[in-house]
Amino acid sequence: MKKPATLLTLGCILLWTAAAVVTGQVSNPPLWAYGFTAEGPEPAAPPCTETSKPQDCARAGSPRPKDVVHTLPDAARTFTEYEIHNGYGPADWYPGDHPPMPDIVAHGRESDKLRACALCHLPNGQGKPENAPVAGLSAAYIVQQLQAFKSGLRQSAEPRKANTNEMIQIARHMTDAEIKEVAAYFSSMTWRPWIKVVETETVPKTRPDLNGLFIPEPGGATEPLGKRIIEVPENPEFTEKMRSPRSGFIAYVPPGSLKRGEELVTKGGGKTTACVLCHGPELQGAGITPPIADRHASYIARQLVDMQFGTRESPMMKSVVPRLNEDDIIAIAAYVASK
Ligand code: HEC
Ligand code: HEC
Repeated sequence: MKKPATLLTLGCILLWTAAAVVTGQVSNPPLWAYGFTAEGPEPAAPPCTETSKPQDCARAGSPRPKDVVHTLPDAARTFTEYEIHNGYGPADWYPGDHPPMPDIVAHGRESDKLRACALCHLPNGQGKPENAPVAGLSAAYIVQQLQAFKSGLRQSAEPRKANTNEMIQIARHMTDAEIKEVAAYFSSMTWRPWIKVVETETVPKTRPDLNGLFIPEPGGATEPLGKRIIEVPENPEFTEKMRSPRSGFIAYVPPGSLKRGEELVTKGGGKTTACVLCHGPELQGAGITPPIADRHASYIARQLVDMQFGTRESPMMKSVVPRLNEDDIIAIAAYVASK
């Protein structure tokens, strides 16, 4: 009597799949939101366990040249490319843009292979699409999230995302005093306009760098955008070579995303709770509810997917995300980033 059991199993699977289609969930973490272009084991992330030193979780890049000197507009200093990318003291181009950095923000702690916060999040905390914007978040929210990384409540739905694995190990290696200090520092920073959202069917052909930042290929080739958001630096050289903390990003989104996103974000569109109810009419957040306006579209999308997959546990967002499909998430992220 094997057959009925098999049929029953098959039936269950079909029903389950149908339910997923009706409620509209994301079936796999979308590659574009996690900085990948292909399924499969490559590029492999290094093994990263609970006891790993943070930098051991990172994909190793080739060393930057020591003899190439860079400048940026209105910056008083010059730096070599090697200095700019120094994980334990990256270039601080505009010291006047921020209060003095706590040591862990400026230098990290080399003895623990804990790289400086300023390397990835930039000295002013504006961040990049492949990591996270941290400027202007409330101190309470920053503390809550660092503790969530530490305790395992916040992980990536894509285990190959090595920089999130590194971030988790960073939080695990921070003392309570350091957590308080960085929360005070990044929450003190005013957000500067950062993301331009453009609806289009065609985008520059890009390649993701080691950490998942999409960079336009030289030569100006284009390709169809399709069902993706592709977020690129406004000035690839400023961002990629110089790590400019003043040069923002362009998020290319499919035509129609902004209108549909507005409906979902402001009214719920029958699929979710209106975001404005908690994040505020201007999506600027309050207290433990973070600001989301004008923040990286691919970061917003990635968080919604992580929350739907449950790898990022969020008691407040739990009821918001379950019925969103990939199109909804693209539309929401596009609209939120455009505010
Ligand atoms: C190697 C790069 C890297 C370094 C160095 C780094 N971070 Fe992160 N950080 C990340 C990534 C990646 C994420 C999460 C992105 C995701 O989940 O998609 C993140 C997320 C965060 C968040 C969550 C933001 C939010 O809106 O929820 C906070 C807070 C944070 N980092 C603080 C810090 C602090 C403080 C330091 C220094 C002690 C630091 N980070 C160093 C890469 C880094
Ligand atoms: C019931 C209140 C509530 C509603 C409705 C809500 N949020 Fe949230 N959201 C929160 C809270 C609180 C957090 C802080 C994280 C946590 O509690 O885990 C958060 C976190 C987030 C984050 C993570 C931000 C970061 O810096 O990592 C994103 C993105 C987000 N919400 C987007 C949305 C969107 C988009 C909608 C509408 C579709 C929405 N939220 C609706 C309360 C809400």
